Amino acid sequence: MSRTNHRIPLVAGNWKMNLDHVEAIHLLQALALRLRTTDTTKVEVSVHPPFTDLRSVEGIIGADELPITLGAQHCSHLESGAFTGEVSVGMLRRLSVKMVLVGHSERRELYGMTDEVVAQTAGAVLSGGLIAVVCVGETAEQRDAGETNEVLTRQVTAALAGVPKGAEASVLFAYEPIWAIGTGVAATEVDAQVACAHIRSVISSERSASVADVMRILYGGSAKPDNAGDLVAQEDVDGLLVGGASLDAESFSAMIDAVAACYGSPAGNGK
Ligand code: PGA
Repeated sequence: MSRTNHRIPLVAGNWKMNLDHVEAIHLLQALALRLRTTDTTKVEVSVHPPFTDLRSVEGIIGADELPITLGAQHCSHLESGAFTGEVSVGMLRRLSVKMVLVGHSERRELYGMTDEVVAQTAGAVLSGGLIAVVCVGETAEQRDAGETNEVLTRQVTAALAGVPKGAEASVLFAYEPIWAIGTGVAATEVDAQVACAHIRSVISSERSASVADVMRILYGGSAKPDNAGDLVAQEDVDGLLVGGASLDAESFSAMIDAVAACYGSPAGNGK
């Protein structure tokens, strides 16, 4: 399957709480070797290591001029102060971080991140000049109860409340059904398409059709080399947020290759 599109696909690797900075260097080096044969004009690649790895990863990306965007997994919505354990947008920017995951379901479920804090964090990321990847998605129970669209509408609308008008170009959404994360059971490409199309329609009604048309929407949840191509072949799936499979250079680069292969002409030349 192939598609052309004006939205450049993104393959984002969310390392979660895996790999210390020495292991991170090894993974980056292995990935760099493999990316030499990948057409990175067709696909953007980001990695989101733990905070303690950022400086080492930044050093390698900079020194070797790797076509990899440096990302973080989370940050505070506040600028500074007595917030033990938190990291600010400004601190990330000083480390050349360009992109931050906001409201991953693990932050929402395990650390009580509310829709309101997700919106405030997205706002803080944008005002710091970074890109926000806002994660949304339903639980298995919500899915079984037929509430997927309702949950997505609520989460997307709430997050957009933190996005100033005109700043939408620096926002991506990632549809990550919670039942698919780390389970080995990915959404089918049809379900991923339906959910991503719904997210786009919410953006369109909250903002405008043209804003929705350029905003990238990723799928995440047990994305692997063997389903990557089928997922991004869908009209409204503009890339992947990858957890487990991003910890292995071979599988992550195979996914990047699958996404690049799916885009028939260089990104930017499409529809
Ligand atoms: P997974 O995680 O690919 O391991 O399912 C995805 C994510 O949580 O971003």
